[in-house]
Amino acid sequence: MDRTNQVWERAIPVSEEEIISLVKQFDTPLFVVSEEKLLQNYRAFQEFFPGIEIFYAVKANPHPFIIRTLKEIGSSFDVASFQEIELVSSQGVPPERMIFANTIKRKKGLRYARQIGVNLMTYDNEEELKKIAMVYPEAQLLVRIKTPSNGSRANLSYKFGAEPDMAPELLLQAKNMGLKPAGISFHVGSPCSNVNNYLYSLQKVSEIIEKVSGEISISVIDIGGGFPLSLYEEEGDESLEAFSKAINPHLQEFLKDGYRVIAEPGRVIVGSAAFLITKVIGKAVRSGITWYYLDDGIYGTFSAIPFDKATFRFLPLRESKEELPAVLAGPTCDSLDVVAENVLLPPLELEDLIVVPDIGAYSWASATNFNGFERAQVVMI
Ligand SMILES: Cc1ncc(COP(=O)(O)O)c(C=O)c1O
Repeated sequence: MDRTNQVWERAIPVSEEEIISLVKQFDTPLFVVSEEKLLQNYRAFQEFFPGIEIFYAVKANPHPFIIRTLKEIGSSFDVASFQEIELVSSQGVPPERMIFANTIKRKKGLRYARQIGVNLMTYDNEEELKKIAMVYPEAQLLVRIKTPSNGSRANLSYKFGAEPDMAPELLLQAKNMGLKPAGISFHVGSPCSNVNNYLYSLQKVSEIIEKVSGEISISVIDIGGGFPLSLYEEEGDESLEAFSKAINPHLQEFLKDGYRVIAEPGRVIVGSAAFLITKVIGKAVRSGITWYYLDDGIYGTFSAIPFDKATFRFLPLRESKEELPAVLAGPTCDSLDVVAENVLLPPLELEDLIVVPDIGAYSWASATNFNGFERAQVVMI
Protein backbone atom coordinates (compact mmCIF):
# COMPACT_ATOMS: atom_id res chain seq x y z
CA MET A 1 0.00 0.00 0.00
CA ASP A 2 1.05 3.58 -0.51
CA ARG A 3 2.75 4.63 2.71
CA THR A 4 2.20 8.27 1.95
CA ASN A 5 -1.54 7.84 1.77
CA GLN A 6 -3.82 9.37 4.35
CA VAL A 7 -5.13 6.11 5.81
CA TRP A 8 -1.68 5.14 7.00
CA GLU A 9 -0.64 8.64 8.02
CA ARG A 10 -3.75 9.32 10.05
CA ALA A 11 -3.87 5.95 11.71
CA ILE A 12 -0.27 4.87 12.22
CA PRO A 13 2.12 7.26 13.91
CA VAL A 14 5.26 5.45 12.70
CA SER A 15 6.84 4.50 9.37
CA GLU A 16 7.04 1.05 7.82
CA GLU A 17 10.74 0.88 8.75
CA GLU A 18 9.87 1.57 12.37
CA ILE A 19 7.23 -1.18 12.30
CA ILE A 20 9.83 -3.65 11.06
CA SER A 21 12.30 -2.55 13.68
CA LEU A 22 9.67 -2.88 16.46
CA VAL A 23 8.94 -6.42 15.29
CA LYS A 24 12.67 -7.26 15.24
CA GLN A 25 12.93 -6.04 18.79
CA PHE A 26 9.71 -7.41 20.30
CA ASP A 27 8.23 -9.95 17.85
CA THR A 28 4.48 -10.21 17.22
CA PRO A 29 1.67 -9.95 18.12
CA LEU A 30 2.63 -6.50 19.30
CA PHE A 31 0.20 -3.97 20.75
CA VAL A 32 1.79 -0.56 20.28
CA VAL A 33 0.54 2.38 22.33
CA SER A 34 1.49 5.84 21.13
CA GLU A 35 2.08 8.12 24.08
CA GLU A 36 1.73 11.12 21.79
CA LYS A 37 -1.69 9.99 20.54
CA LEU A 38 -2.84 9.18 24.08
CA LEU A 39 -1.89 12.66 25.24
CA GLN A 40 -3.40 14.25 22.14
CA ASN A 41 -6.73 12.49 22.77
CA TYR A 42 -6.75 13.48 26.44
CA ARG A 43 -5.91 17.10 25.63
CA ALA A 44 -8.54 17.24 22.90
CA PHE A 45 -11.13 16.11 25.45
CA GLN A 46 -9.97 18.81 27.85
CA GLU A 47 -10.09 21.40 25.09
CA PHE A 48 -13.56 20.42 23.85
CA PHE A 49 -15.04 20.07 27.34
CA PRO A 50 -13.36 22.77 29.43
CA GLY A 51 -13.92 22.47 33.14
CA ILE A 52 -15.18 18.88 32.94
CA GLU A 53 -13.15 16.51 35.12
CA ILE A 54 -11.89 13.47 33.23
CA PHE A 55 -12.17 10.08 34.95
CA TYR A 56 -10.55 7.75 32.38
CA ALA A 57 -12.52 4.47 32.23
CA VAL A 58 -9.86 1.92 33.12
CA LYS A 59 -11.89 -0.95 31.63
CA ALA A 60 -11.14 0.36 28.12
CA ASN A 61 -7.48 -0.45 28.59
CA PRO A 62 -5.99 -1.04 32.01
CA HIS A 63 -2.33 -1.27 30.99
CA PRO A 64 -0.17 0.37 33.68
CA PHE A 65 1.67 2.47 31.03
CA ILE A 66 -1.63 4.06 30.15
CA ILE A 67 -2.70 4.62 33.73
CA ARG A 68 0.66 6.15 34.62
CA THR A 69 0.73 8.41 31.58
CA LEU A 70 -2.77 9.69 32.23
CA LYS A 71 -2.09 10.09 35.93
CA GLU A 72 0.90 12.31 35.15
CA ILE A 73 -1.23 14.71 33.13
CA GLY A 74 -3.83 14.95 35.85
CA SER A 75 -6.49 12.41 34.88
CA SER A 76 -8.77 10.83 37.42
CA PHE A 77 -10.06 7.27 36.93
CA ASP A 78 -13.32 5.34 36.63
CA VAL A 79 -12.82 1.97 38.34
CA ALA A 80 -15.31 -0.88 38.42
CA SER A 81 -13.87 -3.52 40.73
CA PHE A 82 -11.59 -4.26 43.66
CA GLN A 83 -8.89 -5.21 41.14
CA GLU A 84 -9.17 -1.98 39.16
CA ILE A 85 -9.02 0.08 42.36
CA GLU A 86 -5.92 -1.86 43.43
CA LEU A 87 -4.31 -1.44 40.01
CA VAL A 88 -4.93 2.30 39.79
CA SER A 89 -3.88 2.75 43.39
CA SER A 90 -0.66 0.82 42.74
CA GLN A 91 0.22 3.42 40.11
CA GLY A 92 0.17 6.13 42.77
CA VAL A 93 -3.28 7.57 42.08
CA PRO A 94 -4.88 8.95 45.26
CA PRO A 95 -8.40 7.71 46.13
CA GLU A 96 -10.05 11.08 45.58
CA ARG A 97 -9.08 10.73 41.91
CA MET A 98 -11.24 7.63 41.46
CA ILE A 99 -14.94 6.94 41.05
CA PHE A 100 -16.30 3.46 41.71
CA ALA A 101 -18.60 3.55 38.69
CA ASN A 102 -20.24 0.15 38.83
CA THR A 103 -23.81 0.19 40.10
CA ILE A 104 -23.54 -3.42 41.27
CA LYS A 105 -20.50 -3.74 43.48
CA ARG A 106 -19.05 -6.75 45.25
CA LYS A 107 -18.72 -6.27 49.01
CA LYS A 108 -15.01 -6.97 48.72
CA GLY A 109 -14.68 -4.00 46.35
CA LEU A 110 -16.78 -1.79 48.59
CA ARG A 111 -14.76 -2.72 51.68
CA TYR A 112 -11.54 -1.93 49.84
CA ALA A 113 -12.94 1.35 48.54
CA ARG A 114 -13.73 2.32 52.11
CA GLN A 115 -10.39 1.14 53.43
CA ILE A 116 -8.41 3.33 51.05
CA GLY A 117 -10.98 6.14 50.75
CA VAL A 118 -12.51 5.91 47.25
CA ASN A 119 -15.50 7.96 48.21
CA LEU A 120 -17.49 8.58 45.03
CA MET A 121 -19.66 5.79 43.60
CA THR A 122 -22.75 5.06 41.54
CA TYR A 123 -25.86 3.02 42.32
CA ASP A 124 -29.21 2.42 40.62
CA ASN A 125 -31.30 0.27 42.96
CA GLU A 126 -32.41 -0.18 46.54
CA GLU A 127 -30.54 -3.42 47.22
CA GLU A 128 -27.30 -1.68 46.40
CA LEU A 129 -28.18 1.07 48.86
CA LYS A 130 -28.64 -1.56 51.57
CA LYS A 131 -25.22 -3.01 50.74
CA ILE A 132 -23.62 0.43 50.82
CA ALA A 133 -25.36 1.22 54.14
CA MET A 134 -23.84 -1.91 55.60
CA VAL A 135 -20.32 -1.56 54.24
CA TYR A 136 -19.61 2.08 53.37
CA PRO A 137 -22.26 4.51 54.68
CA GLU A 138 -19.99 7.56 54.31
CA ALA A 139 -19.72 7.16 50.52
CA GLN A 140 -20.93 9.93 48.19
CA LEU A 141 -23.60 8.45 45.95
CA LEU A 142 -24.58 9.20 42.38
CA VAL A 143 -27.80 7.68 41.11
CA ARG A 144 -27.38 6.31 37.59
CA ILE A 145 -30.29 6.79 35.22
CA LYS A 146 -31.26 4.90 32.09
CA THR A 147 -30.75 6.78 28.83
CA PRO A 148 -31.87 6.26 25.26
CA SER A 149 -29.22 4.32 23.35
CA ASN A 150 -30.31 5.19 19.83
CA GLY A 151 -27.32 4.83 17.57
CA SER A 152 -25.05 3.38 20.26
CA ARG A 153 -23.26 0.13 19.43
CA ALA A 154 -23.41 -1.16 23.00
CA ASN A 155 -26.52 -0.27 24.96
CA LEU A 156 -25.34 0.42 28.50
CA SER A 157 -28.85 1.13 29.75
CA TYR A 158 -29.97 -2.46 29.23
CA LYS A 159 -28.28 -3.86 32.28
CA PHE A 160 -27.86 -0.61 34.24
CA GLY A 161 -29.69 2.53 35.17
CA ALA A 162 -32.87 3.41 37.06
CA GLU A 163 -35.82 4.85 35.15
CA PRO A 164 -35.36 8.64 35.36
CA ASP A 165 -38.81 8.88 37.05
CA MET A 166 -37.54 6.64 39.84
CA ALA A 167 -34.36 8.61 40.45
CA PRO A 168 -35.83 11.20 42.88
CA GLU A 169 -37.21 8.37 45.00
CA LEU A 170 -33.89 6.53 44.97
CA LEU A 171 -32.07 9.70 46.03
CA LEU A 172 -34.56 10.27 48.85
CA GLN A 173 -34.28 6.66 49.89
CA ALA A 174 -30.52 7.07 50.23
CA LYS A 175 -31.03 10.16 52.37
CA ASN A 176 -33.61 8.44 54.57
CA MET A 177 -31.20 5.57 55.14
CA GLY A 178 -28.65 8.05 56.48
CA LEU A 179 -26.50 7.84 53.36
CA LYS A 180 -25.06 10.66 51.25
CA PRO A 181 -26.81 11.15 47.91
CA ALA A 182 -24.71 13.64 45.98
CA GLY A 183 -25.36 13.40 42.29
CA ILE A 184 -26.69 11.91 39.08
CA SER A 185 -24.89 9.84 36.42
CA PHE A 186 -25.67 8.26 33.07
CA HIS A 187 -24.00 6.46 30.19
CA VAL A 188 -25.45 6.86 26.70
CA GLY A 189 -23.93 3.67 25.27
CA SER A 190 -20.63 3.05 23.56
CA PRO A 191 -19.71 4.36 21.12
CA CYS A 192 -22.62 6.76 20.77
CA SER A 193 -23.35 8.17 17.33
CA ASN A 194 -26.34 10.24 18.36
CA VAL A 195 -25.66 13.34 20.40
CA ASN A 196 -29.36 13.61 21.27
CA ASN A 197 -28.83 10.79 23.78
CA TYR A 198 -26.67 13.16 25.83
CA LEU A 199 -29.04 16.09 25.39
CA TYR A 200 -32.04 14.04 26.51
CA SER A 201 -30.13 12.71 29.52
CA LEU A 202 -28.97 16.18 30.56
CA GLN A 203 -32.57 17.37 30.36
CA LYS A 204 -33.55 14.48 32.67
CA VAL A 205 -30.76 15.45 35.06
CA SER A 206 -32.16 19.01 35.27
CA GLU A 207 -35.65 17.66 35.93
CA ILE A 208 -34.42 15.37 38.70
CA ILE A 209 -32.45 18.18 40.33
CA GLU A 210 -35.60 20.30 40.24
CA LYS A 211 -37.73 17.53 41.74
CA VAL A 212 -35.45 16.87 44.72
CA SER A 213 -34.52 20.50 45.37
CA GLY A 214 -35.14 21.53 48.95
CA GLU A 215 -34.58 17.96 50.12
CA ILE A 216 -31.33 16.91 48.52
CA SER A 217 -28.47 19.03 47.36
CA ILE A 218 -27.11 17.61 44.12
CA SER A 219 -23.52 18.65 43.56
CA VAL A 220 -22.09 16.17 41.01
CA ILE A 221 -23.20 15.42 37.45
CA ASP A 222 -21.49 12.48 35.75
CA ILE A 223 -21.98 12.32 31.99
CA GLY A 224 -20.25 8.92 31.60
CA GLY A 225 -18.46 7.88 28.42
CA GLY A 226 -19.61 6.91 24.93
CA PHE A 227 -17.71 9.58 23.01
CA PRO A 228 -16.72 8.77 19.40
CA LEU A 229 -13.21 7.86 18.35
CA SER A 230 -12.68 10.70 15.88
CA LEU A 231 -11.59 13.98 17.39
CA TYR A 232 -12.25 16.57 14.71
CA GLU A 233 -15.22 17.44 12.54
CA GLU A 234 -13.15 17.04 9.37
CA GLU A 235 -13.01 13.32 10.25
CA GLY A 236 -16.82 13.03 10.03
CA ASP A 237 -20.02 14.11 11.77
CA GLU A 238 -19.51 11.78 14.67
CA SER A 239 -16.55 13.47 16.22
CA LEU A 240 -15.69 14.72 19.67
CA GLU A 241 -15.63 18.26 18.31
CA ALA A 242 -19.16 17.97 16.87
CA PHE A 243 -20.44 16.39 20.08
CA SER A 244 -18.86 19.08 22.20
CA LYS A 245 -20.56 21.82 20.18
CA ALA A 246 -23.94 20.33 21.02
CA ILE A 247 -23.35 19.24 24.62
CA ASN A 248 -20.90 21.74 25.97
CA PRO A 249 -23.21 24.77 26.27
CA HIS A 250 -25.40 22.73 28.64
CA LEU A 251 -22.42 21.54 30.65
CA GLN A 252 -21.12 25.08 30.96
CA GLU A 253 -24.49 26.13 32.42
CA PHE A 254 -24.17 23.42 35.07
CA LEU A 255 -20.61 24.53 35.84
CA LYS A 256 -21.75 28.15 36.12
CA ASP A 257 -24.40 27.05 38.62
CA GLY A 258 -21.65 25.52 40.76
CA TYR A 259 -22.04 21.84 39.90
CA ARG A 260 -19.04 19.59 39.61
CA VAL A 261 -19.30 17.94 36.18
CA ILE A 262 -17.32 14.78 35.51
CA ALA A 263 -17.00 12.40 32.54
CA GLU A 264 -15.77 8.82 32.24
CA PRO A 265 -14.34 8.58 28.73
CA GLY A 266 -12.56 5.36 27.78
CA ARG A 267 -12.71 4.69 24.05
CA VAL A 268 -12.03 8.25 22.89
CA ILE A 269 -8.89 8.44 25.04
CA VAL A 270 -7.31 5.11 24.15
CA GLY A 271 -9.06 3.77 21.02
CA SER A 272 -6.97 5.53 18.40
CA ALA A 273 -3.87 5.58 20.59
CA ALA A 274 -2.88 1.99 19.87
CA PHE A 275 -2.30 -0.24 16.86
CA LEU A 276 -1.60 -3.93 16.56
CA ILE A 277 1.10 -5.60 14.53
CA THR A 278 0.20 -9.19 13.73
CA LYS A 279 1.92 -11.74 11.51
CA VAL A 280 0.65 -14.26 8.97
CA ILE A 281 1.57 -17.66 10.41
CA GLY A 282 -0.42 -19.90 8.08
CA LYS A 283 -2.13 -19.89 4.71
CA ALA A 284 -4.59 -22.27 3.10
CA VAL A 285 -7.08 -22.19 0.25
CA ARG A 286 -10.50 -23.41 1.34
CA SER A 287 -13.44 -23.50 -1.08
CA GLY A 288 -11.56 -21.23 -3.44
CA ILE A 289 -10.85 -18.52 -0.86
CA THR A 290 -7.48 -17.85 0.71
CA TRP A 291 -7.37 -18.06 4.46
CA TYR A 292 -4.57 -16.27 6.28
CA TYR A 293 -3.98 -17.39 9.85
CA LEU A 294 -2.66 -14.65 12.13
CA ASP A 295 -0.80 -14.86 15.43
CA ASP A 296 -3.59 -12.90 17.15
CA GLY A 297 -7.31 -13.66 17.10
CA ILE A 298 -10.65 -13.21 18.78
CA TYR A 299 -9.41 -14.81 21.99
CA GLY A 300 -6.67 -12.18 21.97
CA THR A 301 -6.63 -8.53 20.92
CA PHE A 302 -9.46 -9.15 18.45
CA SER A 303 -11.72 -10.00 21.41
CA ALA A 304 -13.03 -6.52 20.57
CA ILE A 305 -14.91 -8.18 17.71
CA PRO A 306 -17.22 -10.44 19.75
CA PHE A 307 -17.32 -8.33 22.92
CA ASP A 308 -17.33 -4.79 21.55
CA LYS A 309 -18.87 -5.58 18.13
CA ALA A 310 -15.87 -3.78 16.66
CA THR A 311 -14.69 -3.87 13.05
CA PHE A 312 -11.17 -3.05 11.99
CA ARG A 313 -9.07 -2.03 9.01
CA PHE A 314 -6.19 -4.28 8.01
CA LEU A 315 -3.10 -2.65 6.53
CA PRO A 316 -0.62 -5.21 5.19
CA LEU A 317 2.96 -4.09 4.71
CA ARG A 318 3.22 -5.98 1.43
CA GLU A 319 2.31 -3.83 -1.53
CA SER A 320 0.59 -5.08 -4.67
CA LYS A 321 -1.78 -3.72 -7.30
CA GLU A 322 -3.77 -6.93 -7.09
CA GLU A 323 -6.22 -7.39 -4.21
CA LEU A 324 -8.29 -10.51 -3.62
CA PRO A 325 -10.99 -11.40 -1.10
CA ALA A 326 -9.57 -13.35 1.81
CA VAL A 327 -10.43 -14.60 5.28
CA LEU A 328 -8.35 -13.63 8.31
CA ALA A 329 -8.40 -16.16 11.13
CA GLY A 330 -6.86 -16.32 14.59
CA PRO A 331 -4.37 -18.91 15.80
CA THR A 332 -6.55 -20.99 18.15
CA CYS A 333 -8.23 -24.33 17.42
CA ASP A 334 -11.71 -22.82 17.64
CA SER A 335 -13.59 -22.33 14.36
CA LEU A 336 -15.18 -19.30 15.93
CA ASP A 337 -11.77 -17.67 15.87
CA VAL A 338 -12.27 -15.80 12.60
CA VAL A 339 -11.22 -12.16 12.58
CA ALA A 340 -12.68 -11.03 9.26
CA GLU A 341 -14.23 -12.50 6.14
CA ASN A 342 -14.22 -11.08 2.64
CA VAL A 343 -11.34 -8.66 3.26
CA LEU A 344 -9.63 -7.38 0.15
CA LEU A 345 -5.91 -8.03 0.51
CA PRO A 346 -2.89 -8.34 -1.74
CA PRO A 347 -1.61 -11.91 -2.00
CA LEU A 348 0.28 -12.44 1.27
CA GLU A 349 3.04 -14.84 2.30
CA LEU A 350 3.88 -16.44 5.62
CA GLU A 351 5.69 -13.98 7.95
CA ASP A 352 4.01 -10.98 6.30
CA LEU A 353 2.98 -8.26 8.73
CA ILE A 354 -0.46 -6.66 9.01
CA VAL A 355 -0.99 -3.46 10.96
CA VAL A 356 -4.38 -2.83 12.56
CA PRO A 357 -5.08 0.77 13.61
CA ASP A 358 -7.55 2.13 16.17
CA ILE A 359 -7.54 -1.00 18.31
CA GLY A 360 -6.71 0.53 21.69
CA ALA A 361 -10.06 0.14 23.46
CA TYR A 362 -11.84 -3.01 24.70
CA SER A 363 -9.38 -5.26 22.85
CA TRP A 364 -6.21 -6.06 24.77
CA ALA A 365 -8.31 -5.49 27.91
CA SER A 366 -10.52 -8.50 27.22
CA ALA A 367 -7.89 -10.78 25.64
CA THR A 368 -7.44 -14.25 27.14
CA ASN A 369 -4.78 -16.97 27.19
CA PHE A 370 -7.05 -19.52 25.52
CA ASN A 371 -5.15 -22.42 23.95
CA GLY A 372 -2.02 -21.15 25.66
CA PHE A 373 -1.55 -18.16 23.36
CA GLU A 374 -0.27 -15.22 25.35
CA ARG A 375 -1.81 -11.79 25.08
CA ALA A 376 -0.01 -9.46 22.67
CA GLN A 377 2.98 -7.81 24.22
CA VAL A 378 2.47 -4.10 24.87
CA VAL A 379 5.00 -1.42 24.06
CA MET A 380 4.64 2.29 24.45
CA ILE A 381 6.35 4.48 21.89
C1 LIG B 1 -19.83 3.08 33.73
C2 LIG B 1 -19.02 3.29 32.52
N1 LIG B 1 -18.35 4.45 32.40
C3 LIG B 1 -17.56 4.70 31.34
C4 LIG B 1 -17.42 3.77 30.33
C5 LIG B 1 -16.53 4.12 29.18
O1 LIG B 1 -17.26 4.31 28.03
P1 LIG B 1 -16.55 4.71 26.67
O2 LIG B 1 -15.41 3.79 26.47
O3 LIG B 1 -17.60 4.55 25.64
O4 LIG B 1 -16.10 6.13 26.78
C6 LIG B 1 -18.14 2.57 30.39
C7 LIG B 1 -18.04 1.59 29.31
O5 LIG B 1 -18.52 0.48 29.37
C8 LIG B 1 -18.95 2.32 31.52
O6 LIG B 1 -19.63 1.18 31.65
